Amino acid sequence: MSPRCQTQAHALGAREVLSVEAPRSLLLDKVGAMLGSFAPTVAGAGLQRRFIAASAALGDLLDAAASGGHLPVAAINDSVEALNRAAEGGDLDAWLDLVWQHDDATYQHCLLVSGLTAAFAHRLGFGAADRRLITSAAVLHDIGKARIPLDILRKAGELTAEERRIMREHPRIGHDMLVAQGGFAPMVLASVLSHHEYLDGSGYPQALIGGQIPDPVRMITICDIYAALIEQRSYKPPMPPEEAYAVLIGMAGKLDLDLVRVFGEVIVAASAARLGRHVETRAVPARRYGGAGEA
Ligand SMILES: [Fe+2]
Ligand SMILES: [Fe+2]
Repeated sequence: MSPRCQTQAHALGAREVLSVEAPRSLLLDKVGAMLGSFAPTVAGAGLQRRFIAASAALGDLLDAAASGGHLPVAAINDSVEALNRAAEGGDLDAWLDLVWQHDDATYQHCLLVSGLTAAFAHRLGFGAADRRLITSAAVLHDIGKARIPLDILRKAGELTAEERRIMREHPRIGHDMLVAQGGFAPMVLASVLSHHEYLDGSGYPQALIGGQIPDPVRMITICDIYAALIEQRSYKPPMPPEEAYAVLIGMAGKLDLDLVRVFGEVIVAASAARLGRHVETRAVPARRYGGAGEA
C-alpha cells in the first residue's frame, strides 16, 4: 500500500487498490461492484463469451476428429448454442471481428462458416430447431479435414493434382466418421458429404445435380465459398466483401441465386452494423450497437 505501489497500480489502469491483508469478502465485493458497473457498457462481453465457448467446443471437436475419437456431441451443441445466440443478437459483424483474431485457419474457417450460416438461417426466418440443425451441420461441414495431412491442409500455395485429390476426400471422410458414430440427423450427414456440390453437376464427390441438393446444403455451400474468399491467409489477401459477393453472383448456374440474394442481405446487414457501430462510438459512446435500419 506504499504510495509508489499505488501510483504504479493506477498508472496500469487499476480502479481500486486493496491491501494484501484485506479480507477476501471485501475483494469479492469490489470485484462484484466492478463487474456490475461494466455490464451495461461492455456490450460485446456476452458475444465474446459465446465466441470463446464456441471456439473451445470446436477445439474439442477437432481434436477428437483428428485422433479418431468419439465426437463430443455436447461440444457441438455448445458451439451451436453460442452461434445461434450471436445470430439472434444480430452480432455477425462483431463475430467476424473475433474470428479474425483466431490464428488457426481451420478454426477460423469453421467459426466463420458457422457464424454466417446461423445468421443466414436467422434471416430466412428458420425456427429454433431448424436453426440448431443447420448450424450444427455448418460446424461439422469440414470435420473430415481433421484427417487430411497437415502439410496439405496448411500448404501455402497451390496444391498438386495428387494433393487436391486427397483434399477432396474430406467430405466423404467426414460423412463416414459421422455415420460410423451414429446419431446425426440426415441433413447434417448430407451437408458434410455434399457441401462441395454445384447445381450444374460440376461439384464433388458425387457430381449431384439441382434437385438432388437440398436447400440447407445449398446454404452451407454459399457460406463456405464466401468464407473462403474473405478469409485471411498468408498466401492471399482477403477479398473485400463486395467483391466476394460478386463472385457468388457470378456463379449463377452453380449456386441457388435466390438464396445468394438473401445471403447478400445478411452481409449488407453486417456491414451496416459495422458502420452504425463506428458512427455511434464516435457520436454517442453510450449506445455502442445501432440496429441495421438506423445505420
Ligand atoms: Fe469442405
Ligand atoms: Fe469449408
